[in-house]
Amino acid sequence: MSTPHRAVAIDGPAASGKSTVAKRLATSLGLIMVNSGAMYRAVTWQILQDGINPRDEAAVLQALDLMEIHCGMEDGLSTITINGRLLGSELRSPEVNDHVSKIASIPPLRARLVAMQRSYLKENDLVMEGRDIGSVVFPQTPFKIYIDASEEVRAARRSKDGEADAVAARDAQDSQRKTSPLKISDGAIVIDSSDLTIQQTVEEAHKALIKLGWED
Ligand code: DC
Repeated sequence: MSTPHRAVAIDGPAASGKSTVAKRLATSLGLIMVNSGAMYRAVTWQILQDGINPRDEAAVLQALDLMEIHCGMEDGLSTITINGRLLGSELRSPEVNDHVSKIASIPPLRARLVAMQRSYLKENDLVMEGRDIGSVVFPQTPFKIYIDASEEVRAARRSKDGEADAVAARDAQDSQRKTSPLKISDGAIVIDSSDLTIQQTVEEAHKALIKLGWED
């Protein structure tokens, strides 16, 4: 894919702080920020709404064919609308947390969402966060950052946010799946945010980008 636009890929496990860092980095660099996890969450939410068993891949794919998914932009942040409904806090429900890894492991479903993720780059320079952004979505970008944090810190961050999210179980599923597993992609700079504040993590990410050749 040839494009004049630049992509900053930010990958990492659940609750590593990558969303917050991606948002702040995007604001400071004047780029849009795309949350790819929200797309997997949105499909999961709709599948559960439709009463479909997330483990029934054939039924999930059939339902996916009928879904009208629109990926948009508001105030520099990606938005997601399914069948005319703009999704927000529903995306972080415990039910969605529990089933999203299963839904995200289905290869044809990933292919459809990856195509939508790539289309953002046709119009914009961007920061995109997820699990496979540096490895699969934009493997050609030189700007790859992997944000990590210890399991204890990540679990504590989730419960502080008032969310019951079994981050360790979700990471195990996201790392062990066959298609596009969570991994540190070649050339990525790793930042461990366990003992860093958000601001310090953003500063480290900015330094990493400059090391990777970013020019403001
Ligand atoms: O970043 P998040 O926790 O909101 O992501 C929710 C789930 O979506 C995560 O458990 C795995 C999946 N995901 C993925 O497989 N690939 C991505 N690029 C982003 C998220």
